[in-house]
Amino acid sequence: MDFSTYWSARQKKVDAALNRFLPAAGVRPKTIHQAMRYSIFAGGKRLRPVICLATAEVLHGKIDNALPLACALECIHTYSLIHDDLPAMDNDDFRRGKPTSHKVYGEGMAILAGDGLLTIAFEIATMGKASARYPHATLIRELATASGSQGMVGGQVADLEGEGKKISPADLRYIHENKTAALIASSIRLGAMSANATPKQLAHLTDFGQSLGLAFQVIDDILDVTQTTEKLGKSAGKDIAAQKATYPALLGLEKAKKEADRLTARARAALKPFGKNAAPLEAIADYLLKREN
Ligand code: IPE
Ligand code: IPE
Ligand code: MG
Ligand code: MG
Ligand code: MG
Repeated sequence: MDFSTYWSARQKKVDAALNRFLPAAGVRPKTIHQAMRYSIFAGGKRLRPVICLATAEVLHGKIDNALPLACALECIHTYSLIHDDLPAMDNDDFRRGKPTSHKVYGEGMAILAGDGLLTIAFEIATMGKASARYPHATLIRELATASGSQGMVGGQVADLEGEGKKISPADLRYIHENKTAALIASSIRLGAMSANATPKQLAHLTDFGQSLGLAFQVIDDILDVTQTTEKLGKSAGKDIAAQKATYPALLGLEKAKKEADRLTARARAALKPFGKNAAPLEAIADYLLKREN
């Protein structure tokens, strides 16, 4: 099976499950359910859910237990985008090729749609079967720590506080590790947990996820400089305008690209112990390095 067929088959499974898990657009209060669905189904890549499912599949060939966790991750990710785009944060008008939530529904409703998605994520995460080594409490704690003030939210704090400042490479790394790599690494960890990974397998996959997640944000920074708004589905060139701390700003474009290559190679190296079984995860790492949106 070629890679784009692999990816779109899993995207479809995720979309169908999200459609089942989210309240219908007609459920009261309608506005928030419409807004939650508007952003979820606006056309994201579904990276986090797909890597969650791919990891479960690599370990035990099944995705059933991982599917609710995959959907929970996409709900948290989508909430983070809605809030990231608010005027008080990055102030963006486009996301996933469409006007941002606050442009369509107003700021108050966009904040609430984000709140609704964040909260329902934890409800959805309880809907799968837990594995022998990882009970629901462990899964929920994993999701909470990756998303909270010592994970994604913490990275967003440092990102905002870093605007207009010349920050050190270590501080830039902190931003990227938290605002982006934490949830990506957690997507892989949750897929592994749903498949009852051994502690050793989980450790290798965590290394893979951290490097992949860091590479992902370095590439996001590069694409902001090199791609068009049309191609990205979100406004290009906004990091320089907002004086964001990014890899291209700190290192220049060429060195930033080398760093993305290096991190991707490090991610691939962490998969060595899995041999040929890890081929889908390797393909995902390669795809993310070459992606254009
Ligand atoms: C964008 O994430 C925000 C970052 C963490 C860089 P994605 O590039 O995965 O966005 P979607 O889900 O495809 O819209
Ligand atoms: C966002 O980083 C990370 C999140 C946690 C949402 P960016 O601000 O670089 O994401 P984009 O470029 O707006 O998608
Ligand atoms: Mg941001
Ligand atoms: Mg942004
Ligand atoms: Mg960006």
